[in-house]
Amino acid sequence: MTKNHSKGIDPLNRILANLQIRYQKLRGFHWKVSGSDFFEFHEKFEEFYTSTAKQIDLLAERVLTVGRVPLSTFREFLMFAVIEENDINLESQEMFEVLVDDNDTIIHQLKKTIPLMRENSDFGSARLLEDILLSLEKQSWMMNAWLAKSQERVLVGRGA
Ligand SMILES: [Fe+2]
Repeated sequence: MTKNHSKGIDPLNRILANLQIRYQKLRGFHWKVSGSDFFEFHEKFEEFYTSTAKQIDLLAERVLTVGRVPLSTFREFLMFAVIEENDINLESQEMFEVLVDDNDTIIHQLKKTIPLMRENSDFGSARLLEDILLSLEKQSWMMNAWLAKSQERVLVGRGA
C-alpha cells in the first residue's frame, strides 16, 4: 500500500495510526518470542504494549478534545501508518532491531509534529506528544543497550 496517503492526514491521527501498528506488533512479538530470552522479552513486550495502549487512548481522546475524529479501524490504521506490519518470524534480537527502527520513524514524526502543535497554540497536544516522545526515546535507549550487550556476547563467542 502506498504511504502517500499519510501526507494529507491530520498529524495527530498519523501518530495514532503508527502507534496502533506498533501496539499490534508488540502483541505479536509477545506471543511469538521463543528461546533462552523468552521470559525477559515476553515481559518486556507486555510492558511496552501496555504503555502504548495507554498512549493510544490518550491520543485518540485528545483528537476528540480538539474537535476532530480519531481513526479507529484497522483499515485506516494500515492506510495511514508509515511503519510496516511484521508477519514473519524473527529472532528476539531482530524484534528489538525492528522496534528501534519503528521508534526512530515515529520519533521523527513526533519531532516534526510537536512544533506544528505549538505554532497553532495547541499546547495540550504538544505536551501529550512530548510524553510519547520521551517514552519512545527511553525504550530505544534500553533496547539499544541490550543490543550492544548481545553484540558483545556474539563477539566474545567468536573469540574477538
Ligand atoms: Fe500475555
